[in-house]
Amino acid sequence: MLRKVTVWAAALGVLGALAVTPVIAATTHEEPAKVHWSFEGPFGTFDQQQLQRGLKVYREVCSACHSMNLVSFQALGDPGGPFFEAKYKKSSENPYVKAFAKDFQIDDVDTDTGDKIKRPGTPADHFPAPFANEYAAKASNGGAIPPDMSLLAKAREGGPAYIYSIVSAEGYKAPPAGLTLTPGQHYNIYMPGDLSGAWTGDPNKVPIGGVIAMPPPLADNKVTYDDGTKATQDQEAKDVAAFLYWAAEPKQDQRKQIGLAVMIYLLVFTGLLYAVYRKVWKNESH
Ligand code: HEC
Repeated sequence: MLRKVTVWAAALGVLGALAVTPVIAATTHEEPAKVHWSFEGPFGTFDQQQLQRGLKVYREVCSACHSMNLVSFQALGDPGGPFFEAKYKKSSENPYVKAFAKDFQIDDVDTDTGDKIKRPGTPADHFPAPFANEYAAKASNGGAIPPDMSLLAKAREGGPAYIYSIVSAEGYKAPPAGLTLTPGQHYNIYMPGDLSGAWTGDPNKVPIGGVIAMPPPLADNKVTYDDGTKATQDQEAKDVAAFLYWAAEPKQDQRKQIGLAVMIYLLVFTGLLYAVYRKVWKNESH
């Protein structure tokens, strides 16, 4: 009897879940575009040139508003990172890392006087934040806070494809007639949101997407790439999204390598074990 009740309860539960799923799953924004990434799949690795280009886009464009508090300069020289070179055993001794860090002015305290000072960055420093605090960030961005980018590529559904889509040429669109935006708001089809409040048209045809307080940050030739790659908006969007994914998941390449080594080890071990088994049982009838 008890079993029957349980079965019925489970069946009802499944039915209930099915009934509410469509409501939850209804998308209000465009699914992120499909992008091919070099770091996809079990054997994918970061494309170092792409990470260097993405770093340049972050530094010259995004870092004016978005912090990246968790990322240190020396991480850029770690294996898999944009400045990694095997001949520098420690990333803090990597000359690219050192030169890159030195270009930043870091807040510090003079230990003799206690005064606040600025000093050139060192490899151990982290990327400095563009705003002193979140009030300053809000005041400069029409009341919205540009999210920290250290983990953004992992925190958002769609990951790097979501970041790419938002800042690609396909993201920002002229708002459809009937959608009222306040000054400083932009319409982006990939931005999650509910536009019904700002929509004066047919209530059954609320546009997908959402409003975003970030003005379109990218355009063709927003940066000049050192490797000669053409800086189209699409290229910049892909490169910065790949870089931000690396920033959020810098050890991914090493993890995959270890995984592969473990698999090979297990395969060899299985083969050995089988050979031993055959040998030991050779003259025994089973
Ligand atoms: C002028 C300041 C400014 C610049 C420059 C800027 N952003 Fe933003 N960004 C913002 C603000 C403000 C928000 C929050 C918008 C909101 O919540 O409406 C934001 C939000 C975002 C979001 C959506 C985040 C989320 O919460 O889902 C992404 C993705 C993003 N920015 C990527 C970038 C990238 C990539 C760059 C560089 C190419 C960049 N931004 C440059 C101000 C800026």
